[in-house]
Amino acid sequence: MEIIIQPDSRQASLVAARIVARTVREKPLAVLGLATGNTPLQLYRNLVRMHRDEGLDFAGMTSFNLDEYVGIPPAHPSSFHSYMWAHLFSHINMPKERINIPDGLTTDVPAACRKYEQAIRSAGGIDVQVLGIGSNGHIGFNEPSSSLSSRTRIKTLTEESRLDVAAAFGGEEGVPTHVLTMGLGTIMDARKCLLLAFGKKKARAVARTVEGPVTAMVPGSVLQLHPRTILVLDKDAASELEMADYYAWVHEHKPDWQKY
Ligand code: GLP
Repeated sequence: MEIIIQPDSRQASLVAARIVARTVREKPLAVLGLATGNTPLQLYRNLVRMHRDEGLDFAGMTSFNLDEYVGIPPAHPSSFHSYMWAHLFSHINMPKERINIPDGLTTDVPAACRKYEQAIRSAGGIDVQVLGIGSNGHIGFNEPSSSLSSRTRIKTLTEESRLDVAAAFGGEEGVPTHVLTMGLGTIMDARKCLLLAFGKKKARAVARTVEGPVTAMVPGSVLQLHPRTILVLDKDAASELEMADYYAWVHEHKPDWQKY
């Protein structure tokens, strides 16, 4: 794992944007795996700015989002569909027909999940998968106890995850109980994983993901088995890492050709 620690989320998000932009520039038909939540907001803002000011071209891109709430229409203000259009898709030139988000209103969940997996394969697989992390260590919506080789499927949210998004649904009672999410096996198939985490609230999940054992109880820890995972953290999210000084030293001494 490559661990990049930045002073704050603003600088971390700039590094993350450079990593995604490199893929977009180097591979004009790249496949992007996208995440929602507060964490990637600044990354998306940077990508929008790079599109506007530097001509970063998304015309050949295909995207797959990690997850969506079950039973929530795409137009609902707290759906992940709405989030993605509000923060990214309305502001860049990614073709609408190549944007993929799980269908939370499907009447045939197993078929929709199989179709999603098939669509990722047909697109050639994900080149870079953006990830946040839940305070309980989930990635996508793979809650603790998720199979490390799981594929896209329906999951039941933990109470902790429901509480985390309660405000967006007018209180806990309004939060959907189920989601469709890429599995950990799906995420592990991405050629590169880029996990962002900011703030003290994420420090324990980050430490367990990077330095703890690989366990289904900390779904993010499966990334230890991924050959190209980059974590971009702010100081607070890195604050419980035992080897933080070493990771910082490694980053400072990277050869130029490896820099972002
Ligand atoms: C949700 C999303 C995850 C995200 C996590 C953290 O559970 N499904 O993809 O990483 O929230 O959210 P935030 O970035 O708002 O802390």
